[in-house]
Amino acid sequence: MKKILFVTSEAHPLIKTGGLADVCGSLPKALAELSNDIKLIIPNYQALKTSENVRFLCSVRVDNRNINILETRIPDSNVIVWLVDYPAYFNYPGNPYVDEKGEPWTNNAERFGLFCRIAVEASMDRIYQDWKPDVVHCNDWQSGLVPAFLSLEHDRPSTVFTIHNMAYQGLFPASTAALLNLPGQLWHPAGLEFHEMVSFIKGGLVYADHITTVSPTYALEIQTPEFGYGLEGLLDHRKEFLGGIINGIDLDQWDSETDPLITQPYTAATLNKKHFNKSALQARFALPVNDNIPLFGLIGRLVEQKGIDLILECLPEMVNLNMQFVLLGSGDKNFEKQLKKLALEHPDKIAISIGYDEALAHLIEAGADIFLMPSRFEPCGLNQMYSQRYGTIPIVRKTGGLADTVTDTLPETLANHTASGIMFTEAGSGALLEAIKRALILYSIPETWKKMQLNAMKKDFSWQNSAEQYLALYESL
Ligand code: ADP
Ligand code: GLC
Repeated sequence: MKKILFVTSEAHPLIKTGGLADVCGSLPKALAELSNDIKLIIPNYQALKTSENVRFLCSVRVDNRNINILETRIPDSNVIVWLVDYPAYFNYPGNPYVDEKGEPWTNNAERFGLFCRIAVEASMDRIYQDWKPDVVHCNDWQSGLVPAFLSLEHDRPSTVFTIHNMAYQGLFPASTAALLNLPGQLWHPAGLEFHEMVSFIKGGLVYADHITTVSPTYALEIQTPEFGYGLEGLLDHRKEFLGGIINGIDLDQWDSETDPLITQPYTAATLNKKHFNKSALQARFALPVNDNIPLFGLIGRLVEQKGIDLILECLPEMVNLNMQFVLLGSGDKNFEKQLKKLALEHPDKIAISIGYDEALAHLIEAGADIFLMPSRFEPCGLNQMYSQRYGTIPIVRKTGGLADTVTDTLPETLANHTASGIMFTEAGSGALLEAIKRALILYSIPETWKKMQLNAMKKDFSWQNSAEQYLALYESL
């Protein structure tokens, strides 16, 4: 049994902006089920919601400030959560990273710098709870300073740093080094400095005992200039301590058999009931309700990573085909504007919902026939796994976790019962459109389509396997 402190800036259902929350809300539960003693530490944002009791745990003094730590649980689990309660930094409307207007908090370095300091105090049991972890598992740049600070401590726990996305590095002006009181041992080009900036992510990449990322393919990709953003050299240097462990999915939340957020639950054996969800989805988006029209869905942050520009280039051609397209997402205002314009021009084919809507995300996974995920890069990606679980065939680009979790439909993969999606390689609208047409041909052959759906639904995306890999890693440290 290991004692693990899991450090994260988001965890579903407490607070979520993307897949990081899904993973940090479900992996700890899976580790606890393997009888580990795991606690989560996370900032107490104003937007954080919990159905569980919250109690005062202790107060700790850091950087001349008194900070409270509160204690609660991940809802419907036994996993303890420590909330870092510092209202001057966290008690504002908005999400963990941006304010209500979508602008990054101007004091993000101080906010997450302080969060890291508190996580270090908890790691060293200087909060006097008689609990010192064996392993401190950090996630993404917001927790990057933890392995760096811990490297200066004697008798410290082992550290693991998981990269969920190399595109976000927590880069701040050099003056931040003084603001955060960074010790001289850490503030140099082989440490936290990156091109005369303070880099939070380097704290994890340089100082953690082991680095993981969320798929084996992405672990290789980030060692190249295209995906490494200037850190590929460092990652290559540390490659002996770098590996990929694919994310699992939380079957308590994402299972078409038990999902309370969809219109009609179904299983592989009752796949004929899936279409009730399609009708509900078409009605919800005021599209013609017709089971014979192939329905494409997309859910996600509207950012370049997700290949939204490729979708925008394809849609004018797609509307000439027999199809419908629904999208749920928010992000880049320019993408939002262009998508809305297309929906206005083709109200019977394209429908867009701008915003964040948990229930609608579930209905799209259940109701769509085909899920579009043409990402330019994708460290793991969760929606393509949810889609397969729901018998909704994903179209994905061959990158990162998409390449690792979807099996392209080819004569040989149909023959060996593994075909579960459509994959294309080149990041261009021509290649995407070809994949879309390929999907439509397969959709028009019901026996083949059903085979693909059943292959997809029987895949095992549960956490079991991956949680065991994390455990083996903790044990090796
Ligand atoms: P990323 O973490 O890069 O955003 P993932 O595929 O790993 O991508 O995870 C995204 C998660 O966020 C999924 O659970 C997805 O359903 C959810 N999500 C993204 N955008 C929205 C939205 N607008 N409304 C509801 N859920 C969303
Ligand atoms: C990041 C990545 C996504 C991954 C998620 C959870 O947000 O963009 O691919 O699935 O983290 O690891």
